[in-house]
Amino acid sequence: MLSGKQILLIVAGGIAAYKTLDLARRLRERGACVRCVLTEAGARFVTPLSMAALTGEKVHQDLFSLTDEIEMGHIRLAREADLILVAPATADLMARMGAGMANDLATAVLLATRQPILLAPSMNTAMWEHPATQANVKLLKERGCRSVGPQAGDLACGESGAGRLADVQDILAAIETHFSSGPLSGLRALVTSGPTHEPIDPVRYIANRSSGKQGHAIAKALADAGAEVTLVSGPVSLADPSGLRTLHVETAEQMLAACLGALPADIAICAAAVADWKVKAPAKDKMKKAKGAAPPALELATNPDILAILSTLKKNRPRLVIGFAAETQKVSAFAQEKLKAKGADWILANDVSEGTGTFGGDSNQVHLITHGGVESWPRMSKAEIGAELAGRIAQALKPKASKGKKA
Ligand code: C5P
Repeated sequence: MLSGKQILLIVAGGIAAYKTLDLARRLRERGACVRCVLTEAGARFVTPLSMAALTGEKVHQDLFSLTDEIEMGHIRLAREADLILVAPATADLMARMGAGMANDLATAVLLATRQPILLAPSMNTAMWEHPATQANVKLLKERGCRSVGPQAGDLACGESGAGRLADVQDILAAIETHFSSGPLSGLRALVTSGPTHEPIDPVRYIANRSSGKQGHAIAKALADAGAEVTLVSGPVSLADPSGLRTLHVETAEQMLAACLGALPADIAICAAAVADWKVKAPAKDKMKKAKGAAPPALELATNPDILAILSTLKKNRPRLVIGFAAETQKVSAFAQEKLKAKGADWILANDVSEGTGTFGGDSNQVHLITHGGVESWPRMSKAEIGAELAGRIAQALKPKASKGKKA
């Protein structure tokens, strides 16, 4: 997907710089040609030798290098890149970019370029939250820079909070989306997939038979059609699809939080088989069976309905909210009721009764229920259903762009 793309990777001085070695490698695996500029501080975290070995290219460090200026001056570096990726984008580098400085090779390239810039910020939480950094990020975005991350989590400095470099997979997904020109390019999508696990005690849980195959296939199809996709997946045995961001959760509550955190989005597709109930008070320790004692009674509580919540959000409601209805009888009739009850725009209804092979199988037969009526699709592979759905979404949200194109 990145075949032949020239990526200029600017590595500034942050502890997360070591992750750019893996990033460079993954970019090359995807066919990209990676050139690297190391700032002086960046070179303290990553050696030019490792980066040169992984990119197969000379690493550039010095603005005033005579040989570099003859062979590959900073203007050429700035011009020949299809995309400039700054990772980690430190507070200092972004401040210098914001001020239009050109006092080293990295900032000179960034000032001289007309090519798109993707920032992957990373720093200590207090530095990230500082008004100066926030103002710089805002300014750089207003000037057209795009950004991926930072994430919240444990930081190398021992603190916990926002400031961690986005995962390599997320940075790759953002780059792939950047180069995608499909019918959904420019749109953000959120997809839930898989079952949820609701703990009974530390070793036992309530689950269901969802494999996640349909939700994952939809997420992949949307990404292939150019959307920037966040897949929120319950526990499944599937690999994370390439070209998109996957967030892993276990419970319905965690899935809801991840979905709300992934907003704003243009499209939300709830394909997960979310457990309707959770155990009200899961045991802290493993429940023991005592000889002759009655089995424990499980008191259940209702889980949040993610589809209904997303459909009825006052702020940030996705333009198109799509749910699934897995039924074993009166499939279309129940799905039409669900469409109204949940406030969704579309429902994909499927028959999951025994013998249909829908759960865990590779094909599916669905009915698309909209407020305009019911349309039955022929049995198709789950990947084909994803592609068909991506095409329909493109027609609904980008009617001109998708004219004549099929996802
Ligand atoms: O109500 P029911 O489970 O049949 O609805 C199925 C649809 O609602 C699916 O799209 C599923 O992803 C979504 N759902 C949800 N949260 C729940 C239950 C279902 O998002 N707690």
